[in-house]
Amino acid sequence: MKAFCKLIILLICCSAFFGCKKKDKTSLYNIGFSQCVGSDLWRRTMLDEMKMELSLHPGARFIYADANGNSQKQIQQVKNMVDQGIDLLIISPNEAQPLTGIVEQTYNKGTPVIVIDRKTSSSQYTAYVGADNFEIGRMAGEYMGNLLKRKGNVIEVMGLPGSSPAIERERGFADGLRKFPNVHIVTQLYGDWLKDHAEKQLSQIVPQLNSADAIFAHNDVMASGARAVLRAQHIHKPIRLIGVDALPVPGGGLQMIDSKVIDASLLYPTGGKEAIVTAFKILNKESFLKENILQSQVIDSTNAQLMKLQWNRIASQHNDILRQQNLLTEQENVYNSQQTVLNIIVITLVLAVVFGGLAFYSLMENRKINKALEKKNLEILEQRNQLVEMSAKAEAATEAKLNFFTNMSHEFRTPLTLILSPVEDMMANEKLNLVAGKSLKIIQKNAFRLLKLVNQLIDYRKIEYDRQRLNASPNNIVSFTREITDSFRQSAGKKGIAIKFTAKEPKINLWFDSNLLDKVFFNLLSNAIKFTPDNGVISISISAIEDDLVEITVKDTGIGMDEDELKHVFEQFYQGDAASGKGSGLGLSLSKEIVNLHKGAMEVSSKKWQGTMFTIRLKTGNEHLLLTEESFTDKPAAVNTEKLKLYIADLDKNEREPGGGLTGMPKEHSLLIIEDNPDLLDYLTEKLNGHYDIYTAGNGNTGISMAFEQVPDLIISDVVLPGASGKAITELLKTDMRTSHIPIILLTAQSSVEQQIDGMRRMADAYITKPFNYDYLLATVENLIKNRVLLKEHFISDAPVSGKQTVAKSLDKKFLNDFAGIVEQNLGNENFSVDDICRAIGISRVQLYRKVKALLDCSITDYILARRLKKAKYLLGNEGYSIAEITYMVGFSTPNYFSTVFKNKYGCTPSEFKRTVSAG
Ligand code: FRU
Repeated sequence: MKAFCKLIILLICCSAFFGCKKKDKTSLYNIGFSQCVGSDLWRRTMLDEMKMELSLHPGARFIYADANGNSQKQIQQVKNMVDQGIDLLIISPNEAQPLTGIVEQTYNKGTPVIVIDRKTSSSQYTAYVGADNFEIGRMAGEYMGNLLKRKGNVIEVMGLPGSSPAIERERGFADGLRKFPNVHIVTQLYGDWLKDHAEKQLSQIVPQLNSADAIFAHNDVMASGARAVLRAQHIHKPIRLIGVDALPVPGGGLQMIDSKVIDASLLYPTGGKEAIVTAFKILNKESFLKENILQSQVIDSTNAQLMKLQWNRIASQHNDILRQQNLLTEQENVYNSQQTVLNIIVITLVLAVVFGGLAFYSLMENRKINKALEKKNLEILEQRNQLVEMSAKAEAATEAKLNFFTNMSHEFRTPLTLILSPVEDMMANEKLNLVAGKSLKIIQKNAFRLLKLVNQLIDYRKIEYDRQRLNASPNNIVSFTREITDSFRQSAGKKGIAIKFTAKEPKINLWFDSNLLDKVFFNLLSNAIKFTPDNGVISISISAIEDDLVEITVKDTGIGMDEDELKHVFEQFYQGDAASGKGSGLGLSLSKEIVNLHKGAMEVSSKKWQGTMFTIRLKTGNEHLLLTEESFTDKPAAVNTEKLKLYIADLDKNEREPGGGLTGMPKEHSLLIIEDNPDLLDYLTEKLNGHYDIYTAGNGNTGISMAFEQVPDLIISDVVLPGASGKAITELLKTDMRTSHIPIILLTAQSSVEQQIDGMRRMADAYITKPFNYDYLLATVENLIKNRVLLKEHFISDAPVSGKQTVAKSLDKKFLNDFAGIVEQNLGNENFSVDDICRAIGISRVQLYRKVKALLDCSITDYILARRLKKAKYLLGNEGYSIAEITYMVGFSTPNYFSTVFKNKYGCTPSEFKRTVSAG
């Protein structure tokens, strides 16, 4: 595209270049012409001649100024022209002397100066154009002498005093008359080149006129003035009149000769044309003459006619030239416009070809792109179809699954009811209750929980598939909500949670389906209780916020949710962070759907560890409901206690709080059970209590602290837990020297093979999936504890460890090495105590006892004593120390005490042992 733009610019430049007429170089020149006086005929003719010649140099700028016979004015005008920046000056100086300075200055500054007709007093000019005025005067004198037949009186009317032609003509005239001694110049006067001035002067010398035979005037206009005076003075005597200029134009000297006004005139060419010709020669740096003297001659009645004819011919030729020039200009204009048209046509053609090419190229490219697009389109279409097909299949599969679930849910209802009613019967039986009350309660509670889930699933499906219709009737929402709230007070009270209920008005009538809306509040309230720690507060408030809107808020001071959980809280099957406890992920999404069915809105706001607030807005009146959604009943909305049971049962805590300490009599081994489901925790505690000391924890973090505190012999932990997960717990404990030896069983509902592998990778010792068989669990516990005892042998043995060890095992090995090393170093120190070891290793007394017991199956003091005796035995057998020396080397306070302990262990005193060894 850039190249294309460049091409267009090039074409435009070319067209501009060829389109422009080749200009004359004279177009660059500014020529100034300073005329001494411009009003008389002779000088007008001079100007015409100049313009005519200039017309052959179109474009040259011609600047003309008329000084009107004022020398000072002429000086100023020349200065102005020079300031304007003329390239050449043509000047006809009014007076020689006053104009000499400015002409010299201009010339010396480098501007060429052509002096025309009149001269300055200096020769500092570039060229002169004009006739030889002395010669003209001389020719006039000679002609006059002959005309007067060598005798007579002459009056001379001169031009402007100080002007060079006047001076030179006077001198020439005198010179011409020198041959005629009888011809006398009787009077001389100045007519200043002007007719009226001449008339005025001549009128004052009438007597001289009367005696004169001829008058020589320096120009024809003054000569015609003399003729006028002669006529006016009625001087009829024939007085010859000779002038200068002999202009051939009407009113000029030739006409005066013709009409006998004057007798003769000396031709004085204006030199206008010659001045311009010379000017261009100078400007174009061509050769030129400095002095260009124009020829003169006497014109009288004998040749005036011929001159006139010649002049007319010249004039007509001149007109022809002018016409031709005009024609030429016209032709040139036509040529120029044709040239422009041609250029435009050429450019258009080139552009057309270029654009055509481009268009063709684009067409081809477009076709290619279109083809590619079509192909892509087809591919996309195919993919889309495949996707549609796949999604239809996926939808159908999901639908089938959900239908299956729903059907199963329906199927569950009957057996659940059939479980619940005999359980309730059995619970009512005092004897049975005494024996199996706890188990029956667990059965009932979990059957309720199952039934609630099943019901929620069925409700959700109904709403989702639009089969659920509202059955709304007008009811007092305040009393309805208050009743539900009251039903939860007991459960809340068990956790010390206060429930506050506020309603601005005692009665607010709303159209709602009590059978659906109750589930929303059951769910919100049971959640609030579940997630609010002991002694928290739950506030329910109802108020009409606008004419047609009622707002109900359920606010708790519970554990709250972070932003991520909040985003998904209404999503179907979404289960929040493990720390916030587990739910089905159905309750809230079902609640929102129910509110939506009422054309209301449900929102949530929450802050982690600060609390959560659910806001429900419902419309008043029934305009937003369909007729089919309305039902009129007199019965006030009542809380369905059967349904309520399902929600409340979930909240009831068991007698014993999780996180408790030891239960029953002390046993040989201890277990830590970490499980957030209180029922399961209870169950396991109860079952395992007979065999082991049991520690319990309801969440991951408590589990971790208990493990460090108690250092149990084995840990059973759930995987998904509030706080740290079971896997995180395993990883932490197995990489800490204090707890690395404790076997861990992960007990979880995460039953996939991948999940089990992941658990084992984190160094769990066993992974048992729920539902589990209790006997299998017990066997696994027993096995792992037994294996620990076996493992002890491995640790104590000095055999090198073969194969790759787990982090936990290498940690245990390191512990034992450190422990043995410290003991070995201190065998001679009788004050060496357990606390010294704890300090050196960096663990507590209990942790040390438990760890040593677990790994070595003996107490620390037994171990130290055994090491002391073993060393003593070696020293007695291999070194030459005395018994007393050995006593202190192995850290006994007295030889007697050493002897007693040694005898206890080996059945002989140290001295007996020494004797036996040396004898044998
Ligand atoms: C015109 C004129 C002519 C004369 C010339 C002398 O102004 O007076 O008649 O020949 O000037 O410079």
